[in-house]
Amino acid sequence: MSIDLKHVIEDFNDSGLDKLIVKLDHVAYRVKIGERLTTMQSMMNLLPYREFKNFKIIRANAITTCIKLHDTLPVIVISEGLNEDSIVEKYCQKYGSRVHHLAYLVKDIDKVVAIQKSRGVHFTSEKVIGSESEGIKQIFTMPTETTNHIIEYIQRFGDFDGFFTPNNVENLMISTAKLGES
Ligand SMILES: [Fe+2]
Repeated sequence: MSIDLKHVIEDFNDSGLDKLIVKLDHVAYRVKIGERLTTMQSMMNLLPYREFKNFKIIRANAITTCIKLHDTLPVIVISEGLNEDSIVEKYCQKYGSRVHHLAYLVKDIDKVVAIQKSRGVHFTSEKVIGSESEGIKQIFTMPTETTNHIIEYIQRFGDFDGFFTPNNVENLMISTAKLGES
């Protein structure tokens, strides 16, 4: 099968998406139990990453650490399951410790999702997760065919500068459970 990339780009630009998608925001890893600190150590040994934020994701039985390089994006987000039942640990038992998703900052997430749905793109949740009042809206696409990672679309509102809210990240993680990971 030949793939016509020119046609892919034209179709993408015609949809208006190129003006709505801004830049890479964060890279999220899922690692096996006990490997979060080792992953942080490796990154910090190679690059000037510094610990930025930590979150415990109760419903997904996971802990997530964000590390930042100076004031630049993308931030690296590393999640580790707290027990064998965790969605994160089940994912890692299936695929190993690896990149789970790449998140891209967008200007109007509802518009991006509506356009993508009309183009046949599928998402892990029916609706966008989060709200303007919470300062953040996010959604996951289904994993890519070859490298099996997810694309996240993310939009922030007001002065919110986080990468998720505890409620959002739980809903996002739980939305991936149906991918045969748990
Ligand atoms: Fe994310």
